[in-house]
Amino acid sequence: MADVIFRPYYQGGVRYDGAVVAGGVPIKLNFIDNLYVDAQPIWEQVGEGKTFAPLNPAEIFNNSNPLLVEIGIGNGEFVAYNACRDTSFNWLGIEAFRPIFVKAVARCKKISHDNIRLVQFDAELFVRLLPEGSVGTFYINFPDPWPKQRHHKRRLLKSWFLELLAMHLADGGSIIVATDHEDYAMELVENFAAVSTLESVLEQGGVRVPYINEIVEHYQTKYYRKFALNGRLYYFNMRLKSK
Ligand SMILES: C[S@@+](CC[C@H](N)C(=O)[O-])C[C@H]1O[C@@H](n2cnc3c(N)ncnc32)[C@H](O)[C@@H]1O
Repeated sequence: MADVIFRPYYQGGVRYDGAVVAGGVPIKLNFIDNLYVDAQPIWEQVGEGKTFAPLNPAEIFNNSNPLLVEIGIGNGEFVAYNACRDTSFNWLGIEAFRPIFVKAVARCKKISHDNIRLVQFDAELFVRLLPEGSVGTFYINFPDPWPKQRHHKRRLLKSWFLELLAMHLADGGSIIVATDHEDYAMELVENFAAVSTLESVLEQGGVRVPYINEIVEHYQTKYYRKFALNGRLYYFNMRLKSK
């Protein structure tokens, strides 16, 4: 195995700052069972500062249907439910943590999964690898809250990451986040506000609001059932402003 210099952000490692440009090295993703790629073959290709070519979603899915991306898929129930419900969308599910990724793979194997692809890796690299303007919606359900003050810096949804997601949204595309964690939700209000290309689509009493306290037309994931049913829920739907 090649030396691995890159350590993903979620493991306290560096941010992936290698460029993704036309003319870069194509990353090889051999989807097992036409469904998933483990971290190992990806680690072997990723080195510090390496320049990759953007992925071509139409090649990955063998069609050019709209692309939806879930980050932190957990046990895979959200992606599996939605991919079955409407097969005219392609779903890319990203999950860093192997033991839970394996469960998501097993779940998706049991259903017709032509429109699902799962990758076990840190989300940052895979978002960067997607073509800009290619994603209809990013879903992040119950991102790890890192409740201790000294760990807040590990939270995934910092402004720079939200900016990165926004760059990859197609016209009219959205970033949807649900969390049960009040402190993270308040940080998210600030972090989203710092991204000038995004605006909330949510309204209460005719007034635009940054979040609401209920989930709208949304599958209720394991973490929703575990935490949000107790009454704590912050739901964000931030749309790319029209140019
Ligand atoms: C609290 S769990 C929520 C799981 C699921 N979305 C749900 O609602 O039941 C957060 C998930 O995000 C994953 N995760 C955290 N940081 C990640 C990253 N940088 N890239 C990919 N997955 C990540 C974790 O491994 C974990 O499975």
